[in-house]
Amino acid sequence: MAFDRSIKIAPSILAADFANFGAECAAVEAQGADWIHVDVMDGHFVPNITFGPATCAAIRPHIKGVMDVHLMIAPVDPYIDAFADAGADVLTAHVEAGPHIHRTLQAIRGAGMRPGVALNPGTPAEAVGELLDMVDLVCVMTVNPGFGGQKFIDMSAKIGRLREMIGDREVHIEIDGGVDPTTAPIVAQAGADVLVAGSAVFRGGSVQDPAPYGSNITAIRQAAEGVWT
Ligand code: DX5
Ligand code: ZN
Repeated sequence: MAFDRSIKIAPSILAADFANFGAECAAVEAQGADWIHVDVMDGHFVPNITFGPATCAAIRPHIKGVMDVHLMIAPVDPYIDAFADAGADVLTAHVEAGPHIHRTLQAIRGAGMRPGVALNPGTPAEAVGELLDMVDLVCVMTVNPGFGGQKFIDMSAKIGRLREMIGDREVHIEIDGGVDPTTAPIVAQAGADVLVAGSAVFRGGSVQDPAPYGSNITAIRQAAEGVWT
């Protein structure tokens, strides 16, 4: 897939119907989602548990585009091959998840996936300074990870610093947490291009009535692109 910095909306299935992931992924893609964001939580690195590689593998055939897997687990390394086998395209690990993030990112690339590195709100941009030549994506958390539906934390200054640090490298800046039509312009202005949104995409719709997914995605996209409707 060719690199570009156009706005990409990545619905987080954390806000979807957990009994119906396959149909939910197909529905949001049909309604305009660019990537599908899959939140893996272990009840250890974050205070919540979702699902693991087996669920990712089950979801995979229902996604036509990019499966963007966000690991909120520690340790990461023992599970990298399982997520590769599950068909993850982007595999993102947290810089805070262990002492050897460099080795983790090497292993993710080595397993044939595109590595991403995520930063919690309390972690400075500089923490990934030595990693920018080895990742395809930096994920800036705008909530403390663990739950959907939390209030957006403004990380504009950090996003701006990262954008400068990245320079002309082909590295996406992804924002995760509290993204909606009011916060999307803030992060897009600061330099982000991949916007994860859970509650703001899935609210009001369902697999039976997916049109609200489309209008929610359009509202976030247009807000980020500066075209208020
Ligand atoms: C938070 C997750 C996010 C979350 C976003 O730990 O990583 O992906 O689902 O949900 P909203 O958009 O509802 O903040
Ligand atoms: Zn996430």
